[in-house]
Amino acid sequence: MMYINNLKGKYVQHLLSVDDMSEDFIHEIWTNALKNKDTNSDSLTGKILTNLFYEPSTRTSSSFYSAMTKKGGSVIPINNVKFSSVTKGETLEDTIITMSTMSDCIVLRHHEVGSAERAAKVSPVPIINGGDGNGEHPTQTLLDGLTIYSNNNNNLDNLNVTFIGDLKNGRTVKSLVKLLSRYKNNNFNFISPDNLRYPSDILPIDSFESDKIEDVISKTDVLYVTRVQKERGSDHNYVLTEETLSKLNDKAIVMHPLPRVNEIPKEFDKDKRAKYFEQMRNGLWCRMALLEKIILN
Ligand code: CP
Repeated sequence: MMYINNLKGKYVQHLLSVDDMSEDFIHEIWTNALKNKDTNSDSLTGKILTNLFYEPSTRTSSSFYSAMTKKGGSVIPINNVKFSSVTKGETLEDTIITMSTMSDCIVLRHHEVGSAERAAKVSPVPIINGGDGNGEHPTQTLLDGLTIYSNNNNNLDNLNVTFIGDLKNGRTVKSLVKLLSRYKNNNFNFISPDNLRYPSDILPIDSFESDKIEDVISKTDVLYVTRVQKERGSDHNYVLTEETLSKLNDKAIVMHPLPRVNEIPKEFDKDKRAKYFEQMRNGLWCRMALLEKIILN
């Protein structure tokens, strides 16, 4: 975890990037997340989380809300800054300082890359990056990683991972690649139209790039599908048909951070390889464990 010396000279634990999480930290979160499947607790009674969302969200904001309340805590939900003093011109920094006087942790989603780091520089309470522009989404990686780990015999090595869609703007892909790059013999395939390619400056060595899923689908272990982000100027449409998905091997898994538009046909939802709803359940349990770890540390 990263510790930043904030304005008052105090060291605070923030989660801004996958780089802030050691393997030990991640495995501790996963172990505790799986315990959260069956138990609630009052460990966060009296603690308050601020959900500060400058961009739309269903899963991240709601699962942090649910996680905090399942642990006995409370949430200040600023899920639409249009109805806050941001509209009057308040800066991100002043908003963070304000909310830190009345809460023990802040989850921030913001349209600018690096916004979570800006917030951490002034915050006396932990900042959790809930997605910064097309930068990172580290808590999505916790739940994505747990989904792959638990569907692959508790192992993250020797995987053939195919990412498809808007790889230029998809922050969940960038964060997950960081995690999986730490493990042995993982191959990455990046499938996208030319104008939505994964940024070349962070492309892992020996990666395969194409605009045709047929090149790799039969040898894929993890197919990670992403939405084309119209809100960031992308205009392509990427749709996987049932016929294409039928070329996956029997043990492959299909993931999506959601929301989906029409990338995966709903008929595939009942296929045992579809793991995108399991991802959301893992997200709730991971966020319960993460809030406990960060707030009570
Ligand atoms: N996966 C994800 O970040 O979803 P939301 O945008 O709904 O939070």
